[in-house]
Amino acid sequence: MPKKNILILGRNGQLASSLGRTKTIAGHHVISIGRPIIDLARPETIEKAIRDIKPALVINAAAYTAVDKAECEQDIATAVNANGVGRLGQFCAHNDIPTIHISTDYVFDGQANTPYQPGDPIAPQGVYGRSKAEGETRLRSANEQHLIFRTAWVYSEHGNNFLKTMMRLGQDNDQIRVVNDQMGTPTYAGDFALGLLKISAKVLTSPRDIAWGTYHLTNSGQTSWFGFAKEIFGCFAKFQACTPKIIPITTKEYPTPVARPAYSVLDCSTTSANFGIELPAWENATMRCIKNIEGRER
Ligand SMILES: NC(=O)c1ccc[n+]([C@@H]2O[C@H](COP(=O)([O-])OP(=O)(O)OC[C@H]3O[C@@H](n4cnc5c(N)ncnc54)[C@H](OP(=O)(O)O)[C@@H]3O)[C@@H](O)[C@H]2O)c1
Repeated sequence: MPKKNILILGRNGQLASSLGRTKTIAGHHVISIGRPIIDLARPETIEKAIRDIKPALVINAAAYTAVDKAECEQDIATAVNANGVGRLGQFCAHNDIPTIHISTDYVFDGQANTPYQPGDPIAPQGVYGRSKAEGETRLRSANEQHLIFRTAWVYSEHGNNFLKTMMRLGQDNDQIRVVNDQMGTPTYAGDFALGLLKISAKVLTSPRDIAWGTYHLTNSGQTSWFGFAKEIFGCFAKFQACTPKIIPITTKEYPTPVARPAYSVLDCSTTSANFGIELPAWENATMRCIKNIEGRER
């Protein structure tokens, strides 16, 4: 079979850079492109890239992700996450290219107390969540060959994320107060990327066997931000003599411009059933990420 190109949108983001570390998928060549060459807010750049690269598969790991800032930047959040994704789906459909797209737990209202199924009703609470939900809808109607993977609480060795924030705060503070009444599943970008690459290989090798649609993909298990912080510093204690005391607080004690979902756990069983992919326990992933950070800094 002749080698084709796989196009990954996004270059420096947490997921995009984890995905972009791989050079081939099922023998096909991976090309990661970010702004300004492809800007989701400028659909002509998407169209040109697809025309030039002629990919066999597009994976969109780019998005407007500033949850709080989105409240006063609705136009740009919508342009990128809704319109841009819709146009990407149209260009892909026009060229018979499957689109894999990443979405978020923020499409739900966070009021559940059992894990969300992919088919559960959505009710996004803020501009970011609404823009991502609209992007899902537009992709579904633009390109039948789509896979949407919602994930949650993403972190990695680089970028802005909870684990990096805890590391930074831990350097200057004896105590850190962390919210204990929001539940979710910390998801290591490295694990998510590996899962997505295996799924991508299936799309490329046996597209007729793919059940197109919407899925969930996170590490396994669940915890609160407080539980995640305890685990982070428990792992760090293996490398550092002193770690801060973690104090549980409520959401009311840590207000944010956009309310965070109280419950974000996503049921990933249809991903496991359809693709045979199950990501490791979140505790195990946290340890591996911290080992990578420590290994790099020593
Ligand atoms: N982070 C989380 O906790 C989380 C949770 C659930 C779902 N997700 C979803 O997972 C996906 C990846 O998130 P992430 O954490 O990897 O995000 P991230 O680290 O914030 O990276 C976002 C990427 O999108 C790119 N981007 C932003 N605006 C763009 C535009 N107009 N055109 C093209 N690229 C643009 C950024 O490019 P630059 O490098 O040029 O800035 C960056 O590479 C997103 O779809 C997000 O909604 C994330």
